[in-house]
Amino acid sequence: MEWTEHGVRFIDQTKLPGEETYLTCTTYQQVADAIRNMVVRGAPAIGVAAALGIALGVKDSKAETVGELKRELDQICEAMSKTRPTAVNLFWAIGRMREKFERIRIQPIAQIKQKLIEEAQRMHAEDIAANQAMGRHGATLLPSAGGVLTHCNAGALATAGYGTALGVIRAAVEQGKRIHVYADETRPFLQGSRLTAWELMKDGIPTTVISDNMAGAMMKQGKIGAIVVGADRIAANGDVANKIGTYSVAILAKEHGIPFYVAAPLSTIDFACVDGSGIPIEQRNAREITHFGDRQVVPEGVSIENPAFDVTPAKYVSAIITERGVARAPYGDSLLKLSNVEAAVEV
Ligand code: MRU
Repeated sequence: MEWTEHGVRFIDQTKLPGEETYLTCTTYQQVADAIRNMVVRGAPAIGVAAALGIALGVKDSKAETVGELKRELDQICEAMSKTRPTAVNLFWAIGRMREKFERIRIQPIAQIKQKLIEEAQRMHAEDIAANQAMGRHGATLLPSAGGVLTHCNAGALATAGYGTALGVIRAAVEQGKRIHVYADETRPFLQGSRLTAWELMKDGIPTTVISDNMAGAMMKQGKIGAIVVGADRIAANGDVANKIGTYSVAILAKEHGIPFYVAAPLSTIDFACVDGSGIPIEQRNAREITHFGDRQVVPEGVSIENPAFDVTPAKYVSAIITERGVARAPYGDSLLKLSNVEAAVEV
């Protein structure tokens, strides 16, 4: 994703892997739609996209006073906040853009606009740097060779670049580890088979796609040495909301004695959420379950549930890899410490 003079440009993830097409959103409403419709998805990418969208909306404002501009900013932020509820990076990004506005509101409008654009671009650059740091911290945890399973897509596509879980895998491969990735296909939206496999093949990282219900058998056969996934929101106690199916993978990992790692930037940690029970879970359209493309695959009228995320209790999480270091249980202490210190440490 990138800021251009015409608007915010995204690779259209709904078209991958069949078509590599790009979409330029010229209004903030189009950016909000792109997030809602999953043209751009993945928690950190949603956050950065929202920030760029807010900058775009403010840039296009015709407001003549700072008061008017603030009212428009409120509207823009409100529209962004309605797009997807689980990824806390969205609300983190909106908050950061609002704070920036408050700090510079005494300046001329043209300058406020320019500084908000720069703030969004800074968030883009910081996200890539955070992922690279996460990669450095996490790579040491992966085995020197063998299978690593991941669920959903927590790669470059789901971030501003490099990826969280896939960033850890990329860094391990860069260090010379001979990793073979097992990518869960990730029903129903197929982020694993469509996006993770596409990204990793572009990088030449050996990848095997499995359907979600094969993960347990692969673990039993000894093909999986570690698991690494991303997160959409991590509660203060270390409970992790991530793509639906992550919880099952974590329990299978525990049963087979395989480490289960979560890689996420500090912007994914919601210290206001005491535990996972407070995390809002997005319910998506039933059509994602009832249809493959245009073909209906369930009987007409059958009841459907489609929660997009589940919550993995902290007790199944071997470590949380952040840009500032690796947190271990008890996460209530270690996450707080990492968020308060600059140094990269294992806590
Ligand atoms: O519904 P999605 O595709 O936005 O869900 C994405 C995930 O669950 C990812 O694992 C998570 O956002 C981490 S992305 C670095």
